[in-house]
Amino acid sequence: MINFRELTDEYKTPLYIYDLDYMSSRYTELKDAFKARKSIMAYAIKANSNLSVVKHFADMGSGADCVSIGEVRRAFLAGIPAYKIIFSGVGKSDAELREAIERDILYINVESEAELGRIELIAKELETTCRISIRVNPNIDPKTHPYISTGLHDNKFGVDLTTAKRMYIKANNSDNLDPVGIHFHIGSQLTELKPIYESAEIVADLVRSLQNIKIELKFFDVGGGLGVKYDDEVTIPPYEYAQAILSTLKGLDLTVICEPGRFLTANAGYFVTKVLYEKQNGDKKFVVVDGAMNDLLRPALYSAYHKIEAVTDSKNDERVVDIVGPVCESGDFFAKDYMLPELAHNDLLVIHSAGAYGFGMGSNYNTRGRSAEVAVKDSKARLIRRREEFEDLVALEKEFLQS
Ligand code: LLP
Repeated sequence: MINFRELTDEYKTPLYIYDLDYMSSRYTELKDAFKARKSIMAYAIKANSNLSVVKHFADMGSGADCVSIGEVRRAFLAGIPAYKIIFSGVGKSDAELREAIERDILYINVESEAELGRIELIAKELETTCRISIRVNPNIDPKTHPYISTGLHDNKFGVDLTTAKRMYIKANNSDNLDPVGIHFHIGSQLTELKPIYESAEIVADLVRSLQNIKIELKFFDVGGGLGVKYDDEVTIPPYEYAQAILSTLKGLDLTVICEPGRFLTANAGYFVTKVLYEKQNGDKKFVVVDGAMNDLLRPALYSAYHKIEAVTDSKNDERVVDIVGPVCESGDFFAKDYMLPELAHNDLLVIHSAGAYGFGMGSNYNTRGRSAEVAVKDSKARLIRRREEFEDLVALEKEFLQS
């Protein structure tokens, strides 16, 4: 049990708290689900990129799925070996590609023919061969929020099957490219198995048709996307997820790569904020807290639901409130029409499921320093990122200030 009062007395608010033991149990659950095959869990660093979190997964044997060279560097810093690091993303710069190739990571997930051309050129300049995988867009509707849906031809991600095949042939004929894998990722917060199964089937068929022309791949990269419970969603059990994917791979000798992000971290994280005031505008009651959309953007950006729990001595009946932050935007809310009892100054609100796409999507909007982050492991808490101070926020501008 996490003692929110104790932790916020020590580390102040707003505060992110992560339960590393919960992350471990999720990691083991997913890894075990794939035990019938060789597999690598390549943690999607974007979900929660704190170095101590990444190191925690590294210590469990995890690899990393990275979408910028910054994330690749984080993976190395956290101790993930090169042979478990994947570099994905729809727009990688030449400098990023060069560094990834030089660092000899497991493979680069390629998202277009043009990108394949750049990789070949850069690998040639470096007089080396680059291992690649191609991200296939299976044109399957993942049935999730449109902002986090990626597997339809309407989305910018991946290439269609015909293009993918052409790219594999090109890569196979090149001295500087080594096609080792195939990749798909149809979206995030997926709660339906069927679209995942159908995508895996389409992609596995492409693997077979490549085999027929003597192109042998080693890695079947199924992306991330497993949904979690924020509210009353019915989620996909990891075992069923793994079975569905593995059932499409009959007769194929492939190592499965998974890129879980949210599944591992979302429900391990809490964002804790303090009540500043309550106020009434006409019929509407607001609870104003010290955390804001710059700390946790999901409610503002996706109208995402996060369960909110009050830590209070209040014994009053619950009433309907909006929970809002200090930022100058009407979109700055954590919940609308939420039931909470009357709250006093300095009561706490614990916002659940904040361990994925929480801190990482934060910003310094309104010149607000980002929160501290604390990790709890074996009932011991440890600061893993200090709170940003005003001086941190102006450091990169101060030297350019003209008198
Ligand atoms: N692999 C690739 C290629 C991805 O694009 C993503 C997430 C993942 C793996 C990890 O997906 P996960 O297992 O976490 O679903 N900010 C949004 C989520 C954006 C997801 C982007 N891609 C949110 O807060 O819901």
